[in-house]
Amino acid sequence: MAAHMRMFFCLSLMVILLARSTLTETDNYIVHMDLAAMPKPFATHHSWYSATLSSVLLDTSPLRTTTSSSSSLPSKLIHCYKHAINGFTANLTPSQLDALKNSPGYVSSVRDSSVRADTTHSSNFLALTPNSGLLPISNYGSDVIIGFVDTGVWPESESFNDEAISKIPSRWKGECESGTHFNASLCNKKLIGGRFFNKGLIAKFPNVTISMNSTRDTNGHGTHTSTTAAGSYVKEASFFGYGQGTARGVAPRARVAIYKAIWKEGNVVSDVIAAIDQAISDGVDVISLSLGLDGVPLYEDPVAIATFAAMERGIFVATSAGNKGPQFGTVHSGAPWVLNVAAGTMDRDFGGTITLNNGVSVLGSSLFVLNSAIVLSPLPIVFMGQCHNLKKLKRVGFKIVVCEDSDEYSLDLQVDNVQSAKIAVGVFISNISDWDNLIQTSFPSIFLNAYHGNVIKDYIMRSSNPKARVNFHKTIIGTKPAPSVARYSSRGPSESCPLVLKPDIMAPGDAILASWPQKVAATDVYSRPIYSKFNVLSGTSMACPHAAGVAALLKGAHPGWSPAAIRSAMMTTADVVDNTQTLIKDLGNKNKVATPLAMGSGHVNPNKAIDPGLIYDIGIEDYTNLLCALNYTKNQIQTITRSPSNDCEKPSLDLNYPSFIITVNASDSESGRREISREFKRRVTNIGEKGATYRAKMTPMKGLVVTVEPKMLKFKRKNQNLSFKLKIRGHVSVKRESDVVFGYLNWVEVGGGHRVQSPIVVAGLRSHWN
Ligand SMILES: *[C@@H]1O[C@H](CO)[C@@H](O)[C@H](O)[C@H]1NC(C)=O
Ligand SMILES: *[C@@H]1O[C@H](CO)[C@@H](O)[C@H](O)[C@H]1NC(C)=O
Ligand SMILES: *[C@@H]1O[C@H](CO)[C@@H](O)[C@H](O)[C@H]1NC(C)=O
Ligand SMILES: *[C@@H]1O[C@H](CO)[C@@H](O)[C@H](O)[C@H]1NC(C)=O
Ligand SMILES: *[C@@H]1O[C@H](CO)[C@@H](O)[C@H](O)[C@H]1NC(C)=O
Ligand SMILES: *[C@@H]1O[C@H](CO)[C@@H](O)[C@H](O)[C@H]1NC(C)=O
Ligand SMILES: *[C@@H]1O[C@H](CO)[C@@H](O)[C@H](O)[C@H]1NC(C)=O
Repeated sequence: MAAHMRMFFCLSLMVILLARSTLTETDNYIVHMDLAAMPKPFATHHSWYSATLSSVLLDTSPLRTTTSSSSSLPSKLIHCYKHAINGFTANLTPSQLDALKNSPGYVSSVRDSSVRADTTHSSNFLALTPNSGLLPISNYGSDVIIGFVDTGVWPESESFNDEAISKIPSRWKGECESGTHFNASLCNKKLIGGRFFNKGLIAKFPNVTISMNSTRDTNGHGTHTSTTAAGSYVKEASFFGYGQGTARGVAPRARVAIYKAIWKEGNVVSDVIAAIDQAISDGVDVISLSLGLDGVPLYEDPVAIATFAAMERGIFVATSAGNKGPQFGTVHSGAPWVLNVAAGTMDRDFGGTITLNNGVSVLGSSLFVLNSAIVLSPLPIVFMGQCHNLKKLKRVGFKIVVCEDSDEYSLDLQVDNVQSAKIAVGVFISNISDWDNLIQTSFPSIFLNAYHGNVIKDYIMRSSNPKARVNFHKTIIGTKPAPSVARYSSRGPSESCPLVLKPDIMAPGDAILASWPQKVAATDVYSRPIYSKFNVLSGTSMACPHAAGVAALLKGAHPGWSPAAIRSAMMTTADVVDNTQTLIKDLGNKNKVATPLAMGSGHVNPNKAIDPGLIYDIGIEDYTNLLCALNYTKNQIQTITRSPSNDCEKPSLDLNYPSFIITVNASDSESGRREISREFKRRVTNIGEKGATYRAKMTPMKGLVVTVEPKMLKFKRKNQNLSFKLKIRGHVSVKRESDVVFGYLNWVEVGGGHRVQSPIVVAGLRSHWN
């Protein structure tokens, strides 16, 4: 009974002090504690955290009065964590924090900060069809629960209909919390959980007013990502006619649990950790995190630390790479225990046509929502060159204006100008073809490549009275080449752990159609909000749930696979060629061949991932051995693993990862010519039904000799492990971060169909922090 009462100590403890100890400003701190140091009398870590904190508050109180104040500890202790980290979040002054650092069991702490949210047809593009492959084998992900830490959910969305979905798995411990405009009756067999976390936000910003204190999504991001991964079938979905068809998520029968920690009013990591903590406790199988922290080492990244705990419990975590590309070294969430997802384009384009008065018609990209009569009748069309001069633009009047992109004036700026100038239609000519994040304009617009742009320019120049009509709502399927790496997708290497290649994989992220809250504006037309049940968004935020959905299907098909095994299966079977059967290109690098720093192992191929042949598996110890070899202090390692007894007897940089990277310091050489000599050790497990022989095959790497020992792996039976060494020697020229040398190791099954592919990269690294 006593133990039971202490369970709630965290929330109900009364402290005896005056809270006015704050002559300096308070802030939230996420504090890591060593549970092994907890004295016996404490039945739960919660009661211990409370006692530790109240003794610190007493010691630092200037008045040391014993006047009773019933609310101060609860208001100081913001979150107690059970699973994600050993510790809590408290709102403290610097002197209180200093006192806490001397408390028994204190390990480390970080100041609470904000995370960056990396803001239908896609399933067909991934070749997920109902008749064969991963979808039927996994029973559409029916037994798998995906947790989303995001902006909440719009439960009325048709994508959460639970027709044809079996009863909720009995192991589920989550719930649908009541709150503003939200209660348990809104959940069903599809949307099985909804919780919200904002105590950290309110503690850090006491002035904040929470406008929707519940899991209800007033932003749209969470509704979009969750339905991308696991939306049910919805017939006749479209965004104002664009992308018309049946919408569904990657894993259409997987269960959805939403953990709202990203608010319209802001967000803090301490709430994100509380959300992950609860998701672990509730029993999710997969966590999708379309967010991340920039520029912190692993041991100061609470999200990386919380996902370590999730991984330990067999939960697969997918995170977005970030939208800071195409600069190198911008990828965030680079923890070796998660799947980091880059964004690619699809073979679908949304567009509009310009029909010139000479009868010639040209197709461009557009997502303009109205198709009104105004734009259908012929209008004068003028070529303005660069649309940088707003005054000049304002004099044009109600015409179709043609603008051209340049290095001097970015497309974004020109689009903004045309919007401000209130022109009838804007036509933008540009060589950058991944403008999917630009084309949802609030005025009629069409984006053209240089080739089609020239047709228009020629016509205007030759005609005495140039006129044209425009038309929207075109959807073009089967565009080539696809996929390509989206320009904005963040690039590796990962600064937080450059020894592991990140991103891991690429998934569709560009112009993704998914559900949207009915009462949140999907877009606007001349500042007038426009509502829709579906919306088209672009970003690595959209790529992450695609990968989470695929992981859910794999988990459904292979319940025994570890998170590392699922990741390995996805990575080693990813495609490196596009739908023209040539190597995938990078829209952020002049359409050159994409390197693994842009797309990881390649574009996810779910139907191949179901049967990868070999697996590179990783256990908890392997990750600890890596942290040891990174020369982290005992304290830093404990902060991540939550264990005081980390055995650093066998430090090893050879994490059994299905990719290879060597980084060289790009800032300390004149000539840039470097000698490379490195040996990697790996262990692969044969998960095929019987014995099999694999032969190593390497693609050439400029200036380098790559050898594998042994060259053949002869497995006698299922689940047998065999090890090999990969040696890389030679010279590379690395003067800039963009100097990347890469190739692939393939284990090709002799007399069988399996091909187990791993990228090998030598890249320049320039540290931006440290
Ligand atoms: C739950 O919310 C729905 C929709 O807002 C409402 O119709 C219903 O009465 C509520 N149920 C309870 C028990 O409050
Ligand atoms: C909170 O609001 C008050 C009154 O508007 C203002 O004086 C104060 O600076 C605000 N505090 C913070 C932390 O924003
Ligand atoms: C939000 O709702 C929770 C749970 O109902 C409640 O404890 C909390 O005080 C509310 N917060 C605000 C800011 O209204
Ligand atoms: C597009 O690229 C071509 C060839 O590199 C160049 O001549 C042209 O000026 C570019 N056009 C634009 C709009 O950037
Ligand atoms: C760790 O420290 C050892 C010994 O000082 C050194 O040889 C090694 O290069 C360091 N490892 C890393 C990853 O910095
Ligand atoms: C890289 O080289 C620069 C210049 O020599 C040096 O200042 C820096 O410390 C080096 N970085 C690493 C990680 O070795
Ligand atoms: C193969 O290695 C895994 C760890 O990666 C281990 O769990 C398993 O027991 C090993 N299998 C055999 C047959 O030794």
